[in-house]
Amino acid sequence: MQGKFITLEGSEGVGKTTNVEFIKERLAQSGIECVVTREPGGTSLGEKIRSLLLARDSESMDDYAELLLIFAARAQHLARVIKPALGRGQWVLCDRFTDATYAYQGGGRGVPDASIAVLENLLQGDLRPDLTIILDIDPEIGLARVKERGEFDRFEREQLEFFQRVRSAYLARAAADTRRYRVVNVARTLTEIQSDLRRELDQFIRRAQ
Ligand code: TMP
Repeated sequence: MQGKFITLEGSEGVGKTTNVEFIKERLAQSGIECVVTREPGGTSLGEKIRSLLLARDSESMDDYAELLLIFAARAQHLARVIKPALGRGQWVLCDRFTDATYAYQGGGRGVPDASIAVLENLLQGDLRPDLTIILDIDPEIGLARVKERGEFDRFEREQLEFFQRVRSAYLARAAADTRRYRVVNVARTLTEIQSDLRRELDQFIRRAQ
């Protein structure tokens, strides 16, 4: 039996790390052990590519160089981690996946969706996440949270308008497919957020079993 593929998405400062942990725990309570991974990254090669993507450099990165680096990391991740795990029947919980490319490179940078779709279809075939949870917040609040952490990486240094486009792209994708996507408002207390997450996960697990 093929495992299920869950992805967690959102702009900066939405609290993905805390919520990945919460989702993993919730699945474990239902007797489901999952492989937790992230993009860009998730493999040794992918983590090296991640460093290239996040590092600030005096030479600005071309939008297509960025796009291809992201998909290079994804190719390795799919081949070495995601597909083998799903094939063994394991569940995979991934912190960001191709929706982030549509949001950041598509919405943020202005790369046409059709170009992203070519690479998505080439590498993934018909593999798509079974459930995508988008943690949503006004980027102004999200960025203020990121600022508290200090040092900004290459993406975090973008202007507010960039993150507003990222958010709009995520929300447009969610609106176009209400079966796969769930949007969770994270401008609330952790208790409220996790109560929503629990409800969505429990419903998903019931349908999967
Ligand atoms: P993280 O902050 O969630 O670890 O992700 C690192 C950055 O990578 C984040 O700013 C978003 C960016 N990113 C893209 O621009 N496109 C992608 O496809 C992915 C997976 C991440």
